[in-house]
Formats: sequence, structure tokens, C-alpha cells
Amino acid sequence: MVIKSAVVPVAGYGTRLLPATKSQPKEMLPVARKPIVQYVVEELVSNGIERILFITGRGKNSIENHFDHDPELFRMLAEGKKQDLLQEVDFERLKTNFFYTRQRLQKGLGDAVLCGENFAGEAPFLVALGDSILGLNALSRAVAHMAEVYDDRHASCVIAVEEVPRGQTRHYGIVQPEKSGDGVFRVVNLVEKPRPEDAPSNLAIAGRYIFSPVIFDMIRRVKPDARGEIQLTDAIQLLCDEGRRVVAVKLSSEERRYDIGNFPSYFESFVEFALADPEYGPGFRRALERLLGKSAATA
Ligand code: UTP
Repeated sequence: MVIKSAVVPVAGYGTRLLPATKSQPKEMLPVARKPIVQYVVEELVSNGIERILFITGRGKNSIENHFDHDPELFRMLAEGKKQDLLQEVDFERLKTNFFYTRQRLQKGLGDAVLCGENFAGEAPFLVALGDSILGLNALSRAVAHMAEVYDDRHASCVIAVEEVPRGQTRHYGIVQPEKSGDGVFRVVNLVEKPRPEDAPSNLAIAGRYIFSPVIFDMIRRVKPDARGEIQLTDAIQLLCDEGRRVVAVKLSSEERRYDIGNFPSYFESFVEFALADPEYGPGFRRALERLLGKSAATA
């Protein structure tokens, strides 16, 4: 089955990126030339997604504006013969329908996904975090592969996972594979942000999930955590506890996840994407080498 619908939660506060996120969504921060959420949309479209529901919140209007038609800007670019730029901002060309709904209180990712229940209906759907890019320039086929696995394995849930250094497990949701954690494998347990010594593996959930609609019943059963948030990981754990098939797909190194939720990872992602820019990358590389040479000389 081809997965046609995606829910993209973008309602979080982004407190780890303050003050940058005081009055703009973290999902709109640029990585090289484009806002993060544009990479996410382009990745989903190239993987066959035709309907995207953004779960937004207060202060997130710029996301809607970004994907909206802007007649004045379009006219100006057309008159100025700037066809290439016009292409870049014309999202009609993507042949995708955008929908928006609000999460009224930021009660966690699980609660945000629950806001997509009517939109998803009876069909399986994708959840893609709006602050995570898969693959350099979002050139990832992982979602299409996950959809195949969903069918082949008769799964209730398919999760993208990636290896992280052992010492960093406390920043991620970590899965426990049934057997070996290679390629495609069944998950029997999930632990949210474990200490390295308690982590059942070094395989972290990587911001893309395919769910059967049964996930909504599970989310409703989840109790809020100590911070009052409904965690999506807890709902997936309930799927595992009920013996339903939760399957992980390990991302290849070319499909690595760029997590923009914290400054170190945001800085690194920006630099990597800027270095890969066909026009400005080579000059940027020289500037960076100069800077690095300077800092080595003064060290
Ligand atoms: P994060 O876990 O990074 O949460 O969300 P956050 O609240 O944005 O970040 P910090 O911890 O305050 O820095 C992962 C994705 O889920 C969305 C976020 O917008 C982000 O894209 N999210 C999170 C929601 O839509 N609603 C929520 O209640 C929480």
C-alpha cells in the first residue's frame, strides 16, 4: 500500500533553541537556503505523500504563509525574469494538498499526533517531525521503504531508527530489537531518553513513523509523564505490549537524520548543507578553512 497522508507536528515550543525561537517557529529556521520544514515537505512529496496536515500552535503562522500562494511576490519575480527563484517558491508545483490544525496546549508529541485523527481516517499514515531532515538535502527514500515494510510485515507501526553514540542515548527514544538490530527488525520495547548504562541498544527513533489508525486508541490510553506530556513513545510501547507488530527500519548513513532541535546539531547541519551548496559551497569551504586555520594558529 502506498502511504498518501502525512501528519507533521510543528507545535512544540522549541525551548532548546531560544532565543532564536522566541517569535519564530524552529521549523522555519533556515538550513543553508531553505527553512527546515520545506526540506521535510520536499522529502515527503518525493516519497509519494499527497496530503500533509501540519499540527501547528500559537506563533506558527509563518509556516502556513510559507507554503501559501503569494501573488505579489510571484508577479514581481515573473516581471523580473527570475524564473529560477519563482520555481523555488511555487509550492503548487508539488501537487500536494496542505491542511492545518492547531494543538491548543503543547501537551507532547503523542497529543499532537492525536490532533490528526480525523484527517487520517481509516488509512495508515506517516508522522514526520517538522524539525528533522532525512538525508543531505532531504534526498531520502526511507519513507517509501518504510511503507513497503509496513505491508510486507503486516505491521501496526514502522519506525525509522539510526545508530547514535552510546554516550548520547539520553537525548533520544531508544528501541530494543527482538534479535539483531540490522536492516529491518521487530521492536519489543522502547525506552525514552535512557542513561547509556540502561539503554537496550544505541538505535534511536529518527523522526519518521508509519502508523495504523490503532495508534490513536493507544495515545488515548497513555498517562501524562512528569512534565504533563503525552509521549508518542509510550503509545508505541502499548502496541508492543499488546503483541502488535512494531518494526524498525535502520537508516543508511546517506539517509542520516539531521535533528534541528538543539544548537550543536543545528550548527552542524547548517554547515554541512552550506558546504554542499552547488553555487556557494566551494567559497564557503575556503572561508571555513581560513577560519579554522586562524583558530588553529591562535590555539
Ligand atoms: P520536541 O520533542 O523537540 O519538542 O518536538 P519541542 O517542545 O519543540 O522542543 P523543546 O524541548 O521545547 O526544545 C519534536 C517535534 O514535535 C513537535 C515539535 O514542534 C517538533 O517538530 N511537538 C512537540 C508538537 O507538535 N507538540 C508538542 O506538544 C510537542
